[in-house]
Amino acid sequence: MILVTGGAGYIGSHTVINLINAGYKICIFDNLENGHIETINVLKSIENDIEFVKGDLRNTEDIEKVFRQFKIDAVIHFAAYALVGESVENPSKYYRNNTFGTLNLLDVMIKYNVKKIVFSSTCATYGEPAYTPIDENHVQKPINPYGASKLMVERILDDFDKAYGLKSIKLRYFNVAGCDEKGRIGEWHNPETHLIPNILKAADGKVFKIFGNDYNTPDGTCIRDYVNVEDLAQAHRLALIYLENENKSDVFNLGTEKGDSVKYVFETCEKVLNKKINVEIVERRPGDPAILYANSKKAQTVLNWHTERTLADSISTAYKWEVSNVQYI
Ligand code: UFG
Repeated sequence: MILVTGGAGYIGSHTVINLINAGYKICIFDNLENGHIETINVLKSIENDIEFVKGDLRNTEDIEKVFRQFKIDAVIHFAAYALVGESVENPSKYYRNNTFGTLNLLDVMIKYNVKKIVFSSTCATYGEPAYTPIDENHVQKPINPYGASKLMVERILDDFDKAYGLKSIKLRYFNVAGCDEKGRIGEWHNPETHLIPNILKAADGKVFKIFGNDYNTPDGTCIRDYVNVEDLAQAHRLALIYLENENKSDVFNLGTEKGDSVKYVFETCEKVLNKKINVEIVERRPGDPAILYANSKKAQTVLNWHTERTLADSISTAYKWEVSNVQYI
């Protein structure tokens, strides 16, 4: 059985669908602070055999209960806070949950002799890029507590490998976008801060705000690498297989290797929706690097991971979710 922490959240729930389609037995552990019980219900309607345990990583006893009750073979660890701005205002919250909570999880894993983990890391561990595309060897100097809380876990994982033989795959995501093609689950954050959902939310007559058009990029707006959530989910399955076959620790960037500007994403949304959306340029958002996109060759060659979905695919699935689930969001 695979334990998926944060399986009621955005990326976690998409990965759960991928894994149940591949025949894995799943236990989801989630405190439902940012995850949703409605998402669990949808996942259970796809596969009744999913176990769900409501619990919090900051409480070791909650974690122990899972390991006592189920025979866990490996863990995929998504559960974390992930808002850069909030992490600057409230770093304690981020270090307690993302770093200290993960340490609790790892201690319990070692206690129960579970020695395989796939960890959700982030391109935010790199900080301001010294060069692009960013490869896995790029220096890691995070510029906010969110990135630092994840980098600390990366270091802890390396130390746990040396000391206890815990094997980890760290997946450094770039900008994740899109939703389940069948529209069953989607991106459901509160508050929503991400680019594509914010553009789509403005499509009903509100105004979408571009945070700055005076960056040193061809059209002046920030460039990011938007990787589809279902492609990303597939990378987690491949990482599990790699751990099972190779039993060694490694790290992979997950991105499309293509940089798209905010303006380009906005225009692509207008095209996909066939609709004009109101837009205004406002001040830069603090902490946004001008350009971030991945060199993801390592995931392609070692994991045999290939992205299959385009930016337009991500926008159209995100829109499907936005429209059909407007009562939730
Ligand atoms: N943006 C806007 N208007 C909006 C929202 C976003 O112009 O309403 C711009 C941002 O300024 C940025 C780009 O769109 O230039 C992408 O912003 P997102 O908030 O969608 O994503 P980020 O690049 O800030 O954040 C993502 C992940 C984080 C991760 C970070 C690493 O969501 O978890 O990448 O840089 F830490």
